Amino acid sequence: PRPILLTRHGESQDNVRGRIGGDTAISERGELYSKKLANFVGKRLKSDRAASIWTSTLQRTILTATPIVGFPKIQWRALDEINAGVCDGMTYEEIKKNMPEEYEYVANLSRKKDKLRYRYPRGESYLDVIQRLEPVIIELERQRAPVVVISHQAVLRALYAYFADRPLKEVPHIEMPLHTIIEIQMGVTGVQEKRYKLMD
Ligand code: F6P
Repeated sequence: PRPILLTRHGESQDNVRGRIGGDTAISERGELYSKKLANFVGKRLKSDRAASIWTSTLQRTILTATPIVGFPKIQWRALDEINAGVCDGMTYEEIKKNMPEEYEYVANLSRKKDKLRYRYPRGESYLDVIQRLEPVIIELERQRAPVVVISHQAVLRALYAYFADRPLKEVPHIEMPLHTIIEIQMGVTGVQEKRYKLMD
């Protein structure tokens, strides 16, 4: 059986500042994670020449993959983080100050009530993300070799829920910590999962 390794990118500048979305580089801690990840992947997949590394098109995942050498890397737009539309690149504080109406929706009302269906103005909902992941999932299922997927919180919640067979309504609430690898193995008896927390 071949594993699928899921991980978020290393901590980004935006994670440090509490901004959602955006396209910043990774922080020093994020870089440290990228090295630990490369080390882990090198050891775990060393014998597998057919393995590949999949990232989104955003800097923070591409930079996280940089220290990993010896495997082909593929960028997928479908692995980009949920599009926060008018709120992209803002902190909750800024949304509250500059767009009090959106703040009500994003932080208080609609999004909390129905996070799965809430669509950011000019952006996406979790349901939108789940839909655009379909080609990625089809391709992942077809692969015979291991794949390392370096992506983002919302996207990985959706991917993980698919493989772990978690109900749709739980997707937006699944815990998806930074600097942790979730290894999924699909066998005849079902899906097995291991977690490796490489750092805080
Ligand atoms: O905060 C990091 C982040 O990846 C944001 O870019 C994104 O908007 C958010 O997480 C998604 O998580 P949630 O749906 O819980 O806001």
